[in-house]
Amino acid sequence: MSDNKATLTVGGDTQDYAIMDGTVGPQVIDVRKLYANTGMFTYDPGFTSTASCDSGLTYIDGDEGVLLHRGYPIGQLAEQSSFMEVSYLLLNGELPSAKELDEFTRTITRHTMIHEQLTTFYRGFRRDAHPMAIMCGVVGALSAFYHDSTDINDPEQRRIASHRLIAKMPTIAAMAYKYSVGQPFVYPRNDLSYTANFLRMTFSVPAEEYEVDPVVVDAMDKIFILHADHEQNASTSTVRLAGSSGANPFACIAAGIACLWGPAHGGANEAALNMLREIGTVDRIPEYIARAKNKDDPFRLMGFGHRVYKNYDPRATVMQKTAKDVLEKLGVDDPIFDVAKELEQIALNDPYFIEKKLYPNVDFYSGVILSAIGFPTEMFTVLFALARTVGWVAQWNEMISDPAQKIGRPRQLYTGPTQRDYVPVDKR
Ligand code: CMC
Repeated sequence: MSDNKATLTVGGDTQDYAIMDGTVGPQVIDVRKLYANTGMFTYDPGFTSTASCDSGLTYIDGDEGVLLHRGYPIGQLAEQSSFMEVSYLLLNGELPSAKELDEFTRTITRHTMIHEQLTTFYRGFRRDAHPMAIMCGVVGALSAFYHDSTDINDPEQRRIASHRLIAKMPTIAAMAYKYSVGQPFVYPRNDLSYTANFLRMTFSVPAEEYEVDPVVVDAMDKIFILHADHEQNASTSTVRLAGSSGANPFACIAAGIACLWGPAHGGANEAALNMLREIGTVDRIPEYIARAKNKDDPFRLMGFGHRVYKNYDPRATVMQKTAKDVLEKLGVDDPIFDVAKELEQIALNDPYFIEKKLYPNVDFYSGVILSAIGFPTEMFTVLFALARTVGWVAQWNEMISDPAQKIGRPRQLYTGPTQRDYVPVDKR
């Protein structure tokens, strides 16, 4: 708590509100007593100026383009760490020792199978169902299968539910893909790494041996790291809000998946690649730039702009380099990558994008890589959900353990009719 106070005068009455300090980043004004003191609420649609919690997981400086998990820069984690290690870090607060990492990886590996009865769920979906629709349903249904890990007041049950969610998500995601292409489900293999196992469950068929390409594993692992957590974004806030009522963890993560699906959030990677394909060639870029700038056209450059980053998204930097490496190593010559690079250059030099501080975000290049690896666009957001599960779970655990936690209940500015009497239908 800072010694400084914020002073608010309402109707001639003056009150002081405490100013709180984080370890780094903007201070916040503690307005919890505002309604009791003044009978007024604050008004902040989209929570652009509102901190809903304190958190020790992830720090973003949007002006400087900085993203830290538990203090470690995302670039260092993406280049030097692994998704399993980052998962441990997010859940436990510190990097693991070799033994701790080994134990954690073994625990997650042992939870990768799903209840066999759950496989029949998939058959209830149409083959052309969007895999995110399947993810919402199947992940929500986990709470009907794992009753022994739904007591949120028991830390051990919370721990097991967290491990189950992180471990089963690749299996569920791969099965959603297999179902859509009409191929048999592939069971997990415990001798493979988390990411290699996921790729095998997605791309192998029983008819032949599947060699997991280490270049692809490396790129996929980086993509998972880059999507692991991003502080209080829309889906994470959804998970926290759902969890604040005491809902079980599987239901909360299903809520997060539903929120992530939207094109302004996790759905942007699918939308960005579709946009690049629609543009198709470099000569058509100016037409799309003009549309993005036209106030009367709802079109936006997908993969550009961010609520928090008013600078280059540090995840996009790693993503661009990874896209280049993967395309080179896989020998894929996709003109979409040239369109993406050129579009980025043109937008970065255009006064509209400069003035509004619109830079490429994590989704701008991820689709290029995922497409080169062989994923259909519908799967892109599923991969985001898979990776973000660790962040959701870590944030949910942090919230449940926080003594200041209360059920989330925003207020409103009411603009509907005032009280009036009911009129029977024959008198209207
Ligand atoms: N193309 C063209 N103009 C844009 C874009 C864009 N991609 N993004 C923002 N603007 C303009 C917007 O029209 C507005 O202009 P004005 O002030 O004249 O009305 C101004 O920039 C501010 O935009 P905003 O919508 O008020 O900003 P926001 O913070 O509410 O929205 C955003 C952030 C990410 C939803 C938005 O930039 C967007 O829709 N981007 C495209 C979708 C996208 O790539 N989303 C992925 C985000 S990163 C992954 C994730 O976190 O899920």
